[in-house]
Amino acid sequence: MLSSHFRAAPSPSHPLALLVGSGAALGATGKALDKTSGGAITRAMGHAGFKGNAGKTLTLIGLPGITHSHLILVGVGEGKKITRKSLEEAGGHAVATAQGARVKQLDIVAELPAAGKLTAAELAAHLAFGAELRTYRFDKYRTTEKPEDKPTLGALTMVTAKPEAAKKTYTPLRALAEAIAHTRDLVTEPANIIYPKSLAAECKKLEHLGLKVEVLGEAAMKKLGMGALLGVGQGSAQESHLVVLEWRGGKKGEKPVALVGKGVTFDTGGISIKPSGGMEEMKWDMAGSAAVIGTLRALAARKAKVNVVGVVGLVENMPGAEAQRPGDVVTSMSGQTIEVLNTDAEGRLVLADALHYTVTRFQPKVVVDLATLTGAIIVAIGSSRAGLYANNDRLAERLYEAGEATGERLWRMPLGEDYDAMINCDIADMKNISDGREAGSVTAAQFLQRFIGKTDWAHLDIAGTAWSKKPGAITPRGATAFGVRLLHDWIAKHYE
Ligand code: BES
Ligand code: MN
Ligand code: ZN
Repeated sequence: MLSSHFRAAPSPSHPLALLVGSGAALGATGKALDKTSGGAITRAMGHAGFKGNAGKTLTLIGLPGITHSHLILVGVGEGKKITRKSLEEAGGHAVATAQGARVKQLDIVAELPAAGKLTAAELAAHLAFGAELRTYRFDKYRTTEKPEDKPTLGALTMVTAKPEAAKKTYTPLRALAEAIAHTRDLVTEPANIIYPKSLAAECKKLEHLGLKVEVLGEAAMKKLGMGALLGVGQGSAQESHLVVLEWRGGKKGEKPVALVGKGVTFDTGGISIKPSGGMEEMKWDMAGSAAVIGTLRALAARKAKVNVVGVVGLVENMPGAEAQRPGDVVTSMSGQTIEVLNTDAEGRLVLADALHYTVTRFQPKVVVDLATLTGAIIVAIGSSRAGLYANNDRLAERLYEAGEATGERLWRMPLGEDYDAMINCDIADMKNISDGREAGSVTAAQFLQRFIGKTDWAHLDIAGTAWSKKPGAITPRGATAFGVRLLHDWIAKHYE
């Protein structure tokens, strides 16, 4: 991922990106260049039918009288509707277009056709944030890629009247961008590299930021009675771990916000084994835990004035001689017993103990869990939103709003006694799947709720959003780090 510079003037020869508003409205720099070129920019926009709509770009090369090799026009739409999110997306589109044109450096002019609600510093900082996130690439294992196939873009500059102020606004956003890149790395790494112990070691590395990181192994979890989590990992040669990350930047003694993540570093399904086609995708069944780790990292890196704990349950779900069998009954830390009718419904077993541990140990103000929990949520709402479940309406509204503001969007799903009854069981307190295929994501959430008690709680089913087969404005194909921007903004707005 590239990082940005902030300057008051563009370099005369660099490719230049300009923001264009609805009705092909140019900013001051664009107008001046248009004049220099004898109106060539206006003419080109007219011929191309480019109107400055958000998400559209137009590349002009070698215009007469203009020293910049390329002008990349980036539509931002109606001035009134421009937000931080739309600027981030414009930054992303600028970079994607520049990469398509194989340019080596890009100067983005942080200037709108008309003054909006955002300051010049915010404008430049959010453009930079979006542009950088779009340049993320996981190329650690590409050793034979030809130079001509590699991305060419090596430098990014935001051109702004207020470079110093922009840099100040950008610094905490840069911390967030780095946390997002780290989250994407963790999710993309294969399961022979990221397994419970190595992921716990990654967490330990964050201690230098001032996070307190505690790692519990199987012996400690056995003592605590975490039979649900341990049952999932018992077929794996890798030891299961539970990691607690604490950021105490807020008032001493103030109850924390808690984030809990599903960290199944590989989900074969266990004895209820998955079909082999596409099984490799289950390396990202730890995306919930990676989002929790990334959010804690971002908060610590910018010394956020808030108390937050992250708890991640790290296990590998494998078949084998020691694996748990369908029909096994396990006792969770809460004392409630579970009949494991399908060993592939393992995420809820891991979270049952992680959630109970979190609410009893920390008595948090609120707990939010993230999990690639069910294929059923993808059937229900697709992959442009994550499923949101909550036992508190205000919490649900605030998370929903954070989703709209950041672009990590949610959709609220129902909870209720009728759904809860679907996991009642004849021989134990509950079963880990319901009969039939109805409401699969809801019954999974209902299962989690049995381990929450009275704490305010929300559950995000991110099975559809953790990984993307096509690029988004600020996310390349692959791991999205869904949840990091959402939770970071929600915490900053309501708890800091
Ligand atoms: N990790 C999967 C859910 C998943 C599926 C995530 C597809 C991303 C893409 C989860 O552990 C699982 O296997 N869930 C089962 C539950 C079923 C057995 C009740 C599922 O969704 O099929
Ligand atoms: Mn599974
Ligand atoms: Zn899973």
